[in-house]
Amino acid sequence: MCGIIGYIGNREAAPLMIEGLKKLEYRGYDSAGFCTVSNNQTLIQKDVGKIQEVEKKINLNNLNGNIGISHCRWSTHGGVTKENAHPHTDCKNMISIVHNGIIENFSELKEKLMEKGHTFKSSTDTEVVAHLIEDNYNGSIEEATRIALRQIEGSYALGIVCAKEPQKLIAARNESPLILGIGKEENFIASDVPAILKHTNRVIYLENKEIAILTKNSFEVKNIDGISLNKKINNIDWDSELAEKSGYDHFMLKEIHEQPRAITETLNGRIKDGKVSIKEELNFSDEELENINRIIIIACGTSWHSALAGEFMLEELAKIPVEVEYASEFRYRHPIINNNTLIIAISQSGETADTLAAIREAKRNDAKVLSIVNAKGSSIDRESDSVLYTYAGPEIGVASTKAFTTQLVVLYLFTLFMANLKRSLDYGKISELLGKLRKLPLQMEALLSEENRIKKIAEIYKDKTNSLFLGRGVNFPIALEGALKLKEVSYLHAEGYPAAEMKHGPIALIDKNMPVVFIATKDDYTYKKVLGNIYEVKARNGIVIAIATEGDEEVSKLADYAIYIPKTLYILSSILTAVPLQLLAYYVALDRGLDPDKPRNLSKSVVVE
Ligand code: M6R
Repeated sequence: MCGIIGYIGNREAAPLMIEGLKKLEYRGYDSAGFCTVSNNQTLIQKDVGKIQEVEKKINLNNLNGNIGISHCRWSTHGGVTKENAHPHTDCKNMISIVHNGIIENFSELKEKLMEKGHTFKSSTDTEVVAHLIEDNYNGSIEEATRIALRQIEGSYALGIVCAKEPQKLIAARNESPLILGIGKEENFIASDVPAILKHTNRVIYLENKEIAILTKNSFEVKNIDGISLNKKINNIDWDSELAEKSGYDHFMLKEIHEQPRAITETLNGRIKDGKVSIKEELNFSDEELENINRIIIIACGTSWHSALAGEFMLEELAKIPVEVEYASEFRYRHPIINNNTLIIAISQSGETADTLAAIREAKRNDAKVLSIVNAKGSSIDRESDSVLYTYAGPEIGVASTKAFTTQLVVLYLFTLFMANLKRSLDYGKISELLGKLRKLPLQMEALLSEENRIKKIAEIYKDKTNSLFLGRGVNFPIALEGALKLKEVSYLHAEGYPAAEMKHGPIALIDKNMPVVFIATKDDYTYKKVLGNIYEVKARNGIVIAIATEGDEEVSKLADYAIYIPKTLYILSSILTAVPLQLLAYYVALDRGLDPDKPRNLSKSVVVE
């Protein structure tokens, strides 16, 4: 995945692009580059490194002009080198392009272009697009782009400028996100809203195979055949403050702390008279909802973990059979589904390629698709039959935090909505369960005030190389999530298991160097069994960190370290237990001198398979 921002207007393009690109850095940070057009020439500066590093290496005086394109890269084809950084140009440096996606047929196109005499400077798939446009250029960059795109297979979000037509900025999209930002005497293109939010909140979402032609005073969107399209301008209601660090050292920490607010906003207007009020958000008839007899939840990564917790909620309370699938697996088998099967797709970004492909597969098989999405206007949002949004606001940190807990909240709401519809719970019970949910934001505030304690506990990881995370029931997915968070930001090897599975293998790993994080909250189900597992780890000299319920003396006597969460319903405890694990991962990363916002090899949304 990569980030793109382009500008056309009256202001200097380069400073605006640097500023915007910093907001997209979560999309890629191995190299960055800029191109402006001035005096009918393309001016290009690019280098390897994070945007701040590249900013120091380039000379802004050599990048003047009121039109430009820029890019932060997360490499797919071609190593991390200055030559492979975007923008890429044609032979004469007349056409300059930035690209997010993968050109699947680039080798055959490159071969043909080389036979025609084109010379290539990089080993990327992207450069082929610049030469292909050059090959078809006959005085109109728009026309040449259209002809070139007809020959391209694969995914792309493209920003294109041409030295001979300095009053035009071209954008095109297929399977990779790209938006237009409509300003006053200026227009933008960007991979994501935060990059342009400071300048405009009026946004157009490009669809697949659409090409946009922007001047400083106009915009036009056409399909690949050159037919003009009527596009809706959306008003984004995000506050640009939300996309900043607001005094926190890292986005990850800021987003962890935003969770009480994010949950409050996600609940806002969705609980009325002791019931869940989401019917108007669902594009399904009562009959369709009542006929749902099976749910398959599809997602990737952290969203997959929330799916597992959702399975627990829906089966326990709404009594509907649920299966959870990795989107990447679901799409390549032939699932048995019909129009009484509800597919729930969960995605923060709404752009994850595998989840999107799985949705398409499900729709081909007649299933109804309900998505739980954070990014409004994203591809998954637009392609689903119904969408329930998480109102987490923009999540910039690569490690997902507030999106996760708000996904759990939406799953809980949907569960109680279905429980009412299917009459598996009565009104009194549902309103009692909702009452507990409403308390969560305040309880989470209290939990976050334990941050310093968790920071101290994180120090034990300084000389460790592995960690186990164990939990049961609805907290088993949280154990998986705790392990994933630690892996992602601290590069320590960590594994999550159902606590009872420990004896079937992982126990062999336990010794004095193994920190084992137990989620050992009090419940009527398996609490005592988890205590038994803690004894087993202690007997083998393992280091026990327990996430326990406040007031639990027994755990505090047993564990080396204990972190307490406020009392809540067992099923809701997962929303609280996730928080200390996020903070633990964050502080372990800091202790190891790592930047948790930019974990190596990762990018925020995985828009390629
Ligand atoms: O945007 P999505 O929720 O579809 O993303 C899914 C995963 O790529 C994502 O959760 C990933 O695992 C995060 N890095 C987790 O922190």
